[in-house]
Amino acid sequence: MTDRDCVELLQWAAPRLRLRWEGFRRVRGQVCKRLGRRLKALGLSSAAEYRTRLEADPSEWDVLDSFCRVTISRFYRDHRVFDVLRDDLLPALLEQSRARGEHRFRVWSAGCASGEEPYTVSVLFQMGLQPRFPEAKLDLVATDADEALLERARRGCYPRGALRELPPEWAAAAFPEPGPEPCLAPRFREGLTFLRQDLRTELQDGPFHLVLCRNVAFTYFAPPLQREVLPKLVARLVPDGLLVIGGHESLPEHDTDLERAAGPLPVFRRRRS
Ligand SMILES: C[S@@+](CC[C@H](N)C(=O)[O-])C[C@H]1O[C@@H](n2cnc3c(N)ncnc32)[C@H](O)[C@@H]1O
Repeated sequence: MTDRDCVELLQWAAPRLRLRWEGFRRVRGQVCKRLGRRLKALGLSSAAEYRTRLEADPSEWDVLDSFCRVTISRFYRDHRVFDVLRDDLLPALLEQSRARGEHRFRVWSAGCASGEEPYTVSVLFQMGLQPRFPEAKLDLVATDADEALLERARRGCYPRGALRELPPEWAAAAFPEPGPEPCLAPRFREGLTFLRQDLRTELQDGPFHLVLCRNVAFTYFAPPLQREVLPKLVARLVPDGLLVIGGHESLPEHDTDLERAAGPLPVFRRRRS
């Protein structure tokens, strides 16, 4: 299957999965490779034949859907976002919680891939915040539609390249083992739960102090679905709670429930009503 065939297939199929083709434009290599292998496995010789197959067999849509998950992630991705969370935004939220006598700090990582993002929050929380807020306890739920990625997340072992943006002293504390694929030290796994959940149809119950929904909904979902998901995410934030999206993403038209929390960085705060 040529690149052009793959693109045409994705342009046709994406809206039927409530996705948008444009999200895949730059990263389609991963998806097209999987599609090429699938065609071979099914003994089909063209994208047109695969399309006929999809029209005849509804279960093949689930297979195609699973191919459309782009799995790229790494620790401390978009470092400026994590820096401002650590230095300004999370301390302010933790101060508020402390004043109310609350100790649980609730976080949701939606589209958590193999755990790089939720474990980044855990390491940041223990290394960057708990010295100042020793009473605070992290309660983090991480969800993804892909069970194989969640299995890797639960294993918690990563190639060194995935850690290169973590501050070096944090990387040394969190991954003390030598070797090319070190595993996360047990204390950074405490308070984390990994669950399979498709964000198009199911959302975690809140309320959360922090929701990370980066490089998933606002890249790959079709615009009407983005407009449906956004208010549901906002409704799951506490007043002053934070929503983080990806560095190249923007929010669909939304009402005034959110304000920017860190200048141009993709972090938004739920206004108090
Ligand atoms: C590009 S990764 C982003 C990982 C991480 N949030 C980050 O920014 O580094 C996208 C992740 O979203 C997951 N995903 C895609 N569609 C999803 C859906 N409908 N519901 C839940 N997770 C989904 C994929 O399996 C993948 O792990």
